[in-house]
Amino acid sequence: MTHSSDWAVEAHGLVKVFGDNRAVDGVDLSVRTGTVYGVLGPNGAGKTTTIRMLATLLKPDGGDATVFGHDIRREPQIVRQLIGVTGQYASVDETLSATENLMLFSRLNGLSRADARRKSTELLEEFGLSEAATRPLKKFSGGMRRRLDLAASLISQPPLIFLDEPTTGLDPRTRSQMWDTIRRLVATGSTVLLTTQYLDEADQLADRIAVIDRGIVVAEGTAGELKASVGTSSLLLRLADAGSLERARHAILDVLGVESVLTPEAGRITAPMSDPDSVTDLLIRLRADGIAIEELSVQQPTLDEVFLALTGHPADDDAAPAPGDAAAGASGAAPTPELETAR
Ligand SMILES: Nc1ncnc2c1ncn2[C@@H]1O[C@H](COP(=O)(O)OP(=O)(O)OP(=O)(O)O)[C@@H](O)[C@H]1O
Ligand SMILES: [Mg+2]
Repeated sequence: MTHSSDWAVEAHGLVKVFGDNRAVDGVDLSVRTGTVYGVLGPNGAGKTTTIRMLATLLKPDGGDATVFGHDIRREPQIVRQLIGVTGQYASVDETLSATENLMLFSRLNGLSRADARRKSTELLEEFGLSEAATRPLKKFSGGMRRRLDLAASLISQPPLIFLDEPTTGLDPRTRSQMWDTIRRLVATGSTVLLTTQYLDEADQLADRIAVIDRGIVVAEGTAGELKASVGTSSLLLRLADAGSLERARHAILDVLGVESVLTPEAGRITAPMSDPDSVTDLLIRLRADGIAIEELSVQQPTLDEVFLALTGHPADDDAAPAPGDAAAGASGAAPTPELETAR
């Protein structure tokens, strides 16, 4: 058995149907060995389902895929030896302590008792779990659990690691700790395929990104390529009065012909821009409309705008307009009803 291959994952036309829901509807993915690949999409996009098929935990209804050249249907045993899966489905024993869990994993991976103890202590230290070492898992917080889960996957350090939303719900410090660990995994030879709902996470970590929405890959490329595909630059406006956000949105739609992303709390509005020169026309229009601005800049677009441009709806469904929100009354262009069905 050999797994010398340029491609850790090659998937073509993967399909998974649940009843009449085509959860994954023809997904192609190519993950180069030694890289971090990000699958980015909102709730219900089909991320976990895709990973479960690649990890041989779920049978595809269509398409095929290989892991380091091994077919996931015909050689599932070999594939399982090459992968580690952590994430939304924690696989550790609830009644055992953190140390006992890591010891168990280490022993299962063929370490001697002494090595297993040393390794477990090291990992608990590294993940800031030393103080909770003897606590049973059922008393762990979500963040501690996530860290232990990743720690367990470091024991065997398989060539390909699937991380399903590794940082969802983590505080910023733990999150950046996870990012460091993921980078370290790749630096020491693993390939990582991670899913995320966070655009900045994909931007920070992934060499390439597939944007997935309702079971379909709507775009693929490096973060830079995805940003460039939307327009060459991005306009950022901060308004003196957040109450004029809606009018500013209309002005931008009129002058630049594009939808913008509103951040009402910050009085902030961003929009993709293909021609930086047109900012002059916009400024004239804003003054004519009596909309005072506090800050204006033209910069590289954010992945949020990329997602909006590609799918017609924002990536974070949860950020849908709240009652009393200036954006709540937006008519026409706001695709809110579709967002609901995406869940
Ligand atoms: N076992 C299942 N039985 C029936 N439907 C399922 C099953 N698993 C997933 N689905 C449906 O398939 C679609 C994709 O789900 P999936 O869990 O892959 O999304 P996701 O991108 O991982 O979302 P999230 O960000 O919420 O984890 C959803 O509509 C979901 O309800
Ligand atoms: Mg999921």
